[in-house]
Amino acid sequence: MVLRRLTEADLDDLAALDADPEVMRHLTGGRPTPREVIRDRILPAVLDDYERSPGFGRFAAIERATGEFLGWFSLLRDEHRRGQASLGYRLRRAAWGRGLATEGSRALIRLAFAELGVERVVATTMAVNVASRRVMEKAGMTLARTFYLSWPDPIDGAEHGDVEYAVTAQEARKVTETTSSGAPAGSAELHRQSSGAERRRRPPEHTA
Ligand SMILES: CC(C)(COP(=O)(O)OP(=O)(O)OC[C@H]1O[C@@H](n2cnc3c(N)ncnc32)[C@H](O)[C@@H]1OP(=O)(O)O)[C@@H](O)C(=O)NCCC(=O)NCCS
Repeated sequence: MVLRRLTEADLDDLAALDADPEVMRHLTGGRPTPREVIRDRILPAVLDDYERSPGFGRFAAIERATGEFLGWFSLLRDEHRRGQASLGYRLRRAAWGRGLATEGSRALIRLAFAELGVERVVATTMAVNVASRRVMEKAGMTLARTFYLSWPDPIDGAEHGDVEYAVTAQEARKVTETTSSGAPAGSAELHRQSSGAERRRRPPEHTA
């Protein structure tokens, strides 16, 4: 799997991803994100973020062999807590169950600590989102807290609250020291350069 920056050309794939009620189950209760919202609000914000926080952002996950869009991963700088970043992911249903979310999460956590000066990576999900919690655990994170938010229109399972998992740079170093060194086999490859299409639209100094 390859992680690369998203571009406007990814609109259809992003809309199709968010149109699957199973993908959106623990995010919106299954409601799709309208395509116009992705086109006019979400994607422009994602592209702006590459400029505002170099190295961070939301990245398309692409099947290395076929070029197929698998979904996305995000590593976002926490604007309120210095040294902290949050991890997120959303994959097409066809890609589930192959360890890809774990692979991408590990790659972004490694990037955060090794290259972006992050001290702590957190990830949150609904307490009932067992698959996502398992990904967090497999990526080396541990449960930091359970919290309860009041939603105007709560979705199924919201009564169990949300969970936050976290890993610090120090904890991650310990794991690396006690296991094999370097990136594990089959690990996600991060394309730090903008894609060709993006380079045409953006000046080269904006590569991450
Ligand atoms: C959550 C998600 C990213 C997981 O992707 P994935 O590539 O299938 O994850 P992985 O294969 O790396 O690991 C999933 C783990 O959860 C486990 N799992 C999956 N569904 C499960 C369930 N219903 N109950 C218990 N465990 C479950 C898998 O067995 C696996 O653990 P294992 O390796 O110990 O067997 C994917 O399901 C998804 O995109 N869901 C929709 C969006 C979403 O919920 N994103 C997270 C929001 S915070």
